[in-house]
Amino acid sequence: MRRKIVVGNWKMNNTIAESVDLATAIAEKVGADGVQCEVGIAPTFPALYEVCKVIEWSGIRLCAQNCHYESDGPFTGEVSTRMLAAAGCSYVILGHSERRQLFGETNATVNLKVKKALAEGLSVILCVGETLDERERGVTGQIVTAQVVEGLIDVTDISKLVIAYEPVWAIGTGKTATKEQAQEVHALIRAKVTELYGQKAADHLRIQYGGSVKPSNAAELFAMPDIDGGLIGGASLNADDFMAIVEAAG
Ligand code: 13P
Repeated sequence: MRRKIVVGNWKMNNTIAESVDLATAIAEKVGADGVQCEVGIAPTFPALYEVCKVIEWSGIRLCAQNCHYESDGPFTGEVSTRMLAAAGCSYVILGHSERRQLFGETNATVNLKVKKALAEGLSVILCVGETLDERERGVTGQIVTAQVVEGLIDVTDISKLVIAYEPVWAIGTGKTATKEQAQEVHALIRAKVTELYGQKAADHLRIQYGGSVKPSNAAELFAMPDIDGGLIGGASLNADDFMAIVEAAG
């Protein structure tokens, strides 16, 4: 049985003080309720260290939203995996569609980051997903497969990998993929991972769904056989909504 994983991606929201308040509220609920699934939150870089201090006791995982693929050096504006680990992160989200679309990330740069993060001992949430145009052209399978295969070039051990399927057309739009649409792509991803890494590794791999997950649709999505939790944007900025989604994951 795969343990479900629900992560709140806070994107570019919240000051340090606001982040600490939200993290504290979530930690109190997760710590008190003793939820079954793995829970993570991904604040902005400036807030990571302070948030770490208020969630450490609760078991919530601290996640970063991006990293660079070098350890140190002349890369103005970038943050390395070494720095993230030192700030208390155990996960990093890589290849989010906003990074791909707005900041020019490609499967090749995402692959460099995946390798660096895993080498640093961080767990990775590798995001994949098609645009509306790609879905309408019927190339969803091709696009997602290429993102998985090229994102994992020269990665031999996937025990610290999570994949997040986030159809771009469902992110922040209020349009969720139906549970059948999501399941179809999740099954395709698992089949590809089986081909690349074998049955056992694929059976252990957790594949999250992301894209307008809300308290009202989380349970039906998480009940699908290949959906192992969620990567939550907007709804993760409210502690009650986020907790309702966490609870839907069991
Ligand atoms: P929304 O939940 O706001 O659609 O965002 C999803 C997402 O991009 C999570 O990484």
